[in-house]
Order: sequence, then structure tokens, then C-alpha cells
Amino acid sequence: MNVEFHSSPFSSIAADALLMLHFEDDPSPAHEWFSELAASGEAKGKVFDLAVLHRPAGFAAKRLVAAGAGPARSFTPAVLRKITGAAVRALKSKGVHSIALCLDHPYAEAALAAAAVEGAVLGNYEVDVHKSEGRATDLATFQLISPADLAPAVAHGETIARAQNFARALVNEPGNLLPPLELAARAAKMANENGLDCEILDEDRMRQLGMGSLLGVAMGSDQPPAMIILRYTPATPSPDHLCLIGKGVTFDTGGVSIKPSDGMEKMKYDMAGGAAVLGAMQAIAQLKPPVAVTAIVPTVENMCGGRSLRPGDIVTSLSGKTIEVLNTDAEGRLILVDAIEYARRLGVTHMVDAATLTGAIVVALGHVHVGAFTNDEEMLGRVLASARAQGENLWHMPLDDDYKDYLKTPFADLPNIGGRWGGAVTAAYFLKEWTGGTPWVHLDIAGTAWLEETKPFLAKGPTGVCVRTFIDLALNWR
Ligand code: BES
Ligand code: ZN
Ligand code: ZN
Repeated sequence: MNVEFHSSPFSSIAADALLMLHFEDDPSPAHEWFSELAASGEAKGKVFDLAVLHRPAGFAAKRLVAAGAGPARSFTPAVLRKITGAAVRALKSKGVHSIALCLDHPYAEAALAAAAVEGAVLGNYEVDVHKSEGRATDLATFQLISPADLAPAVAHGETIARAQNFARALVNEPGNLLPPLELAARAAKMANENGLDCEILDEDRMRQLGMGSLLGVAMGSDQPPAMIILRYTPATPSPDHLCLIGKGVTFDTGGVSIKPSDGMEKMKYDMAGGAAVLGAMQAIAQLKPPVAVTAIVPTVENMCGGRSLRPGDIVTSLSGKTIEVLNTDAEGRLILVDAIEYARRLGVTHMVDAATLTGAIVVALGHVHVGAFTNDEEMLGRVLASARAQGENLWHMPLDDDYKDYLKTPFADLPNIGGRWGGAVTAAYFLKEWTGGTPWVHLDIAGTAWLEETKPFLAKGPTGVCVRTFIDLALNWR
């Protein structure tokens, strides 16, 4: 899909569909036809309403589309992102190849333009790459038309949404087509194309270093593990060094503590945190924030095999702490703690991780909010501000020391699971034990990285959650 900006008069745009925002109770509608629509009751301007006028008099476009935008007072970039996404999905399924959105005063603003483009690019994404016939069509062109110079905002929005779609495409790949080394190869390719430094630690290197926790998980699979490390260095050196860490389990069977077969196919998305980090790095390389950013994606496949971890096995993590593996399905935390320790040795000053870590976070927050845990309220404040700016839902979860009692074993320094209760918190608390006071935020995205049902503005499947928050966090670092 091509994304373009033009400042030509709306009437001269030769698109298949020219979209104008149709607000509810708008005293000065963009087109007199809108008042007629509202009076007739056909379309009142509710969000996702689309009313189509073919061959509109005085316009070069084939169709004029009144795109419902809701009440003007609750109109935000987040609303517009959904509106353009829904319009792209609805119209491309009806044979429309090019869409132009008119953004006139008072809505000719950078944040709205960027969100409009993001919505269109995100809405256009489909999960049917492996179908040999009957694939959904791609929209050829999305144009943003405005009298104001919104070209930079349009380019910005496109960069961000393409990064998010890059992450979604990785998540969408099944376990057989994207084992750890393939994820590493895709990361290296992206890094090369975008001028990022890339280092892949292989199994031997990780053994030399002593990453016994990650390697324990990898033992059950014939697919070798990797630690993907990407570096972005700003032109002027920054005092701070941000580290993005993402869980990269390319498939999670649960290992010997095997998962039920019903729904197990979805566990290809257990690398969504890693994919979000890689997607964010693509945009960070292109948008060049003022802060140094290192990405670390530990990647393994969690299988049951003759050499798999058994319940009760004890592994020694890179930091030297020993872990009793009471449940082999709690593997994400085992690979993340070796990544966290590695990040600390690199001397990073701030860490954020994203991980499809627990079913318990889905019980707690459903599919609506990402669970956010921290050892540093100020760092969490930064992440929450970015999420809010980007329209991603994060919810602050507790992580006080009273939870420490849940993680006790006489056999090693820590067990890898707590008891029955507070599973998302005990998982986060386990990670915290490795952060050693470096400001850190953990984002549990198990409930939000995968969309169970298609929405008007987004295909079912990978959402690319956290990509926008990560990019915003780096871009607005002070
Ligand atoms: N990848 C899963 C978490 C998960 C569950 C992600 C559902 C997406 C949807 C993780 O590795 C896992 O299996 N966690 C266990 C932990 C338990 C054994 C303490 C879980 O949540 O059941
Ligand atoms: Zn698991
Ligand atoms: Zn997992």
C-alpha cells in the first residue's frame, strides 16, 4: 500500500473513495449531503458508519464517503485511528483500491494525520499470507489530503504502523516456519536494512557465558536457541541507555508440563514480546530518537523431548542464582532472567520488557489491558505516558514485597512458579529478583497480543501491542 500526502483541493482528488468525517450533531457539516443523511436517519455520523455517494457532482473521486466520526467533543487520534482502519477494511472488500481522507480545519493536525495513516496501514494488514487462493485484497493507495502541511506527520505515522505490521507478521508465522534461528535471521535482515548493529549469541556462546536458565528451556527442542541483540546509537551520545527486552518463545508446548491440546496452536504467538521489540527497533532506527536503545530478544522453542527439563530440575542462571523448575510451562521467565542479567552487564540504565508471560494476566485483565509491573514508579510513569499518547491500554499492577513469600523453595534460590494465586504478579516478582535496582517495567501482554475476533478496524490475530508505546518511549526520552 502506498501512503501519500497531498494538499490539492478535495474536489480534484481522483481516488476510488474520498472520505470526509461526518460528526454527530455537526452544525457545519463538511458537505450538505451529510445533513440530508442525518435528517433521513440513514447515517447519523456514529463511529464506523459509512455512507457512500457514487459519482458525486463536482468531485473527481468515484465515491464520496461520509465516515462517521461520533460526537466532535470525543474525537481523538485514537478514534480516528479506528475509523480509518475500519474504512479501509470495509471499502477494500468492496473493490475500492484507493482511498483519500480529507482533514480540514479544525482537524488538520499532526497527531490526527499520523493516527489516520496508522489506522489505514494497520487496518490493511491481513493474516492470510499462507493462503494460496482467496486472499484479501490489499488497498493500493491511501492518501491524506489537507490544506495544512501534514506531510511529515503522514510519514511518521506510516513508519510507526509499518513497524507494528512487521511485528504482527512475525507473530503470525507458525512455529515450523519461524524457529529461533529464523527469528534471529529476520531480525538481522531488518537491522542491516536499517543501519542497526546486530549481534546474535548462539548456543555455544551462551553456554560459555553461563546462561543455564535459558539453555535449560532450549534443551527440549532440536531447534537451537539464540539471543538477539540490536543496538541503536544516537548521533549525540546520551547519558541514559534504554533496553527493550522481549520474550521470544517461537512455540510453547509447555514442555513436560505440557499444555492441553485445545488451543495450543495459538502458542505461536509466544514470541509477541520479542516481535514488538524488533518492530519498535525498526521505527527507532528510522526516526532516530535522542537516547541509546539496545534490544534483547532471547529466543527458544519450548518442546518436550528426551533432553527436556523435568519438574524439579535445578538450573543456574547467568547471574549465578539457582532456580528450581517446578513447572516447565513457566519458561518465559527462565529465558527473560538471563536476558535481564545480560542487559545489566551491558550497563543499561533503564529496562522495559514485553512478554506473553502468564494466563493469569488474562484472568485479571481480560483482553483489554496490558498488565504493567515495575520496581520504579518514575520509570512506569514514562511508560504509561507513552502508552496513553499512543492509545495503548496499560494497567498498573502491584509488585510489593509481600509477594516474596509466594516464591519459596528449600531446594534452590527460587522456584520458577508461585502457588495458585496471583500468578501474573509472582511471575513479575520472579523477574524483579534479577533487575537489581535498575529501573524496570514489565509488560505482560498475554491477553493483548492476540485478537480473538476480527474487529472492524483490525484483522483477527496478532495486534502488535507495545510497538507504538516502545517507539514513543524512545522518541520522547528526556
Ligand atoms: N506462554 C504462556 C502464557 C500464556 C498463556 C500466553 C495464555 C498466552 C495465553 C506461559 O509460558 C505459560 O505457560 N505460563 C503458565 C505459567 C504457570 C505454569 C505458572 C500459565 O500461565 O499457565
Ligand atoms: Zn509456557
Ligand atoms: Zn510461554
